Order: sequence, then C-alpha cells, then structure tokens
Amino acid sequence: MTVDELYELLRVRSEVFVVEQDCVYQDMDGDDQASLHLWLTEGDKVVALCRVCPAGTHMQEISIGRVITTVRGKGYGKRIMLEGIAAAREHFDAEVIDIEAQEYAKGFYEQVGFQQSSEPFILDGIPHIKMTWKEYPIETQRIRFRSWQESDAEALFKYAADPDVGPRAGWPPHGSVADSLEVIRKFFANDHTWALVLKETGEPIGCMGYYPYGESNIGIGENDAELGYWIAKPYWNQGICTEALRAMIDYCFNKKGFQTLWSDFFVDNPASGRVMEKCGFQDTGAINWCSHLYLGDERPVKVMRLDYAL
Ligand SMILES: CC(C)(COP(=O)(O)OP(=O)(O)OC[C@H]1O[C@@H](n2cnc3c(N)ncnc32)[C@H](O)[C@@H]1OP(=O)(O)O)[C@@H](O)C(=O)NCCC(=O)NCCS
Repeated sequence: MTVDELYELLRVRSEVFVVEQDCVYQDMDGDDQASLHLWLTEGDKVVALCRVCPAGTHMQEISIGRVITTVRGKGYGKRIMLEGIAAAREHFDAEVIDIEAQEYAKGFYEQVGFQQSSEPFILDGIPHIKMTWKEYPIETQRIRFRSWQESDAEALFKYAADPDVGPRAGWPPHGSVADSLEVIRKFFANDHTWALVLKETGEPIGCMGYYPYGESNIGIGENDAELGYWIAKPYWNQGICTEALRAMIDYCFNKKGFQTLWSDFFVDNPASGRVMEKCGFQDTGAINWCSHLYLGDERPVKVMRLDYAL
C-alpha cells in the first residue's frame, strides 16, 4: 500500500464515520497494522473499503470492520464484504468471522451470510449488534447450504406456498409470510436444517436437512439419521436435488459419522424416490403410514436406506 492509498483510506473512514455520522471516536485504533485492507475503486475514486482483522486484535475472533461505501446502491457494499470474507478465509483460514454491525445495517450483513449473535449494545453512542458468519458446511457447484434466517420468510413463502411442493413432502402449503416465519422459527432453527441457496442468485430455492435419532419418524438406529428435502418447483428436473443430496450424504457420513442414512417418500411422488435411487439409496421393502404428515393417512410411504461403505 502506498502512502497516498493509506491516506485516502483513512480520509474516507473519517469522512464517513466521524464527519457524516457525527461521531467522535478514535478511528486509528492500532489494529490497522495487523489487518488486511481491501478497497474497490471506480476510476481513481475509492467506492468501497473494509479491513479484515486477525483473531485477537480488534475482536477475539477474526473480524471485518470499517466497512464503507462512498457510492451507495450499486452493490459495492455486498462486493466488498464478499471480498472481505474471501480474504479472511484465504489469509487467516477463517471458519468464523465476527463483526460489530450498526444495528440499522443488520439486513445488509444478513445478505452476505452473517447472523445476529448478541443482544444490541451501544458503541461510540450508536446501537450495534455482534453478527457472526460461519463457513458454509456444504457447498456444491450450484448450491450453498446455509442456516435459515428470519429474514428469509418472504423468500420461503414464495415457493412453499406452492400446493405442488409441501404436500408431496408431507406438509401443508404455507398460507402467509407469517406462516413461513413460524416454520423458520419452529422447524428450521437448528444445526441440521439448511436453506439451499442458488449461488448464482443468492436466493434460497429449497431446504435439506437430517433428523437425528429421536427426531426421526422411521425406526432408525442411534448412529443413523433420516434425510429430507424439497426444491422449489421452477428448479425441478435440473439435477439440483441430486447434486445437493450427494454432498449432504458425504457430509453425514464423513463429517457427522453416521452409519446408516434413511429417507422415505410417498409412493405417489416418484421423483423423490428417483433422487434417492440416483444417490445410492436402496428400497428396504418397508411401507409406512405416517398419519402425522399432511395427507399421510391416505398415502403409503416407501422407506429407503443407504449404509456407510468404506
Ligand atoms: C423431489 C424433488 C426434491 C426433486 O428435486 P429435483 O431437483 O427436481 O431432482 P433432480 O432433478 O435431481 O432429479 C429428479 C429425478 O426424478 C425424475 N422424475 C421427475 N418426475 C418424475 C416422475 N413423475 N416419475 C418418475 N421420475 C420422475 C427426473 O427425471 C429425475 O431423474 P433422472 O435424472 O433419472 O431423469 C422435487 O421434485 C420436490 O421438491 N418435490 C416436492 C417436495 C418433495 O417431494 N420432497 C421430497 C419428499 S420425500
């Protein structure tokens, strides 16, 4: 970094954080020397910047801060954050990244995968929250698995309201965004249910997860899990579920150490059975009736299994 570049970054920081936000605080806090500094330019104008601080400097974990765009509404904020995350992974092997976010910007940081991880607090006179990003547990060519967030309610409703989706998997179509929010809070807020996000657009287009022993409705063993999924209808028959399920199976066997994976599908929903078959599941011959599932009394379910093989 040249002296001129350093001067410009510090100038922009005080222009925004001190002057624009009318906030007296010590911007040059001694954490810059150990940090990575990223900035985007348009012509010779700095349009966005941030710094990535190693663990144990600005915060206990690796952190990203001093995030600024000088030209707003053009996607530069998202870009600089994604570059910041990439730099933290590449240079500091980050699996977890924290930020102290101004509370008003929560939605912005959620878009790039951060989730609120503290109660609100006041920093330099401004309401803040701590937000945390965690490495995506599973990623494929087209799909990234990430935790569901409450801010996904509208996106979830868009596809889960479709009467062709839920009933095939045993749940009723969502009737409102409020229904979707409740589902996120009640059923998706755990560490084994993920939104399937289409990398190309950042949109959640499905859901995949596993039920561990005790939560499954098939009689599975203690070291087993039952897998479940759905994909939004506009994305059917493009191999997306198969691609995601293969990665999920790898995760379940090789990261979680499950011995046998189970899944089941209504016999009148052969597409799902086909996905299981393509991923190596075999028909156990067992047929279940699941009265607790939506329309479960009327439709038998085929039970499939896949054993771990070395
Ligand atoms: C089942 C579901 C997840 C499949 O997702 P997808 O991304 O379309 O799956 P893929 O494209 O990877 O594979 C679908 C396979 O089913 C086949 N298929 C589609 N419709 C079919 C039908 N009516 N009969 C038989 N096979 C069918 C496709 O041809 C494809 O197989 P192929 O690659 O051999 O041609 C999706 O249809 C869905 O979400 N349905 C509603 C919810 C649901 O059923 N969830 C599962 C509950 S057990």
